[in-house]
Amino acid sequence: MSFERMWQDLGPVGRSASSGGYFRQPFGSAERECHAWFLEECAARGLEVESDGNGNTVGWWRAGSGSSVLTGSHLDSVLDGGAYDGPLGVVSSLAAIDLLRDRGFVPSRPIGVGAFVEEEGSRFGLACLGSRLMTGATTPEAAQELRDRDGVHLLDAMAAAGLDPQLGRGTLLDDVGVFVELHVEQGRDLVDRGAAVGVASEIWPHGRFRFDFTGEANHAGTTRMEDRHDPMLTYAMTALAANKQARLSGERATFGRIEAVPNGTNAVPSRVTAWLDARCETDESLTRMLAEIERLGQDRAGRDGTALSVTPESVSAAVGFDADLARRLAVDHAGGDWPIIATQAGHDAGVLSAAGIPTAMLFVRNPTGVSHSPAESAEIADCLVGVEALADTLERLAG
Ligand code: GLV
Ligand code: MN
Ligand code: MN
Repeated sequence: MSFERMWQDLGPVGRSASSGGYFRQPFGSAERECHAWFLEECAARGLEVESDGNGNTVGWWRAGSGSSVLTGSHLDSVLDGGAYDGPLGVVSSLAAIDLLRDRGFVPSRPIGVGAFVEEEGSRFGLACLGSRLMTGATTPEAAQELRDRDGVHLLDAMAAAGLDPQLGRGTLLDDVGVFVELHVEQGRDLVDRGAAVGVASEIWPHGRFRFDFTGEANHAGTTRMEDRHDPMLTYAMTALAANKQARLSGERATFGRIEAVPNGTNAVPSRVTAWLDARCETDESLTRMLAEIERLGQDRAGRDGTALSVTPESVSAAVGFDADLARRLAVDHAGGDWPIIATQAGHDAGVLSAAGIPTAMLFVRNPTGVSHSPAESAEIADCLVGVEALADTLERLAG
């Protein structure tokens, strides 16, 4: 089947020989190779390729008339990520087109397969950068300020990859009437329910916040413990406080990235920067949890003689997907009822939904429940059920 061939083609691209994880950062060589592969697959199917100036691409099956049905996902990964987060949706979309054609289906409206750029925010820090720009959720002016860890500006990174950046809305979404994204599930909900496929109800609000802790660099041996102003201690206490707050409310708080300056073993650091990823059930509880973590951090900074400032870098409000569409997807097919489940992971589908496009998501079971890690997985049989589910959905929406 075309799914398996495509999956094998993409398998080696950007995979680390040591961890088995993927490094497909936007506008880097591995991600560009995935993108070139996508263009070839579109060409092989006679899909008309349209790109915007943000790095997003859609391959159109030009058929029928009226508003189009868009599907697809993303090809970039987190650092040392899994194979499925993103590419499963793109590969499944192309395979669903093949299946529809095998069935002799003739769409009454255009169907597009999209590949959105920098969904993970792994390089420029802003999640769903491509879909945010194309919907106007992020302005070109704000995006132009973004820099990666090496200080490279977004526009320079795009130009270095051979793109001609024209940031902003563009016209790619102008005629899109509905969007469906298939994605590997990133938890164990479908495993627990014994279902190969599920439908999304909502995305929890979530955000990334930069915590800058500043103190005083000094000698690790000669400085008495009571004379220090050590920002690492303030950070450590804040990380523990964040974990406790999230446990208390049954929500999520993670410090997964940290930088220390000067990062020397025998020096008290002058600065620690750490990024909090927080996810809560409601916008209000996200605001409340962040405020409480910051309050506890400031409290500790006062005792350590350090300073703390907090800067939001990427915040996504709660998204409730189109409930009627979700219900139709879940029941209106031959395979029985699919569960309708919430997710704590962010997706381009959330951005398009927030922009007013009726949107749905299909999840494919992940037996490990692990994601953003090389251990992320999905059984081939479940992936094929996912392709069929997506094909059925597209048939219904574009029939
Ligand atoms: C994207 O996968 C995110 O939720 O961080
Ligand atoms: Mn994803
Ligand atoms: Mn992800």
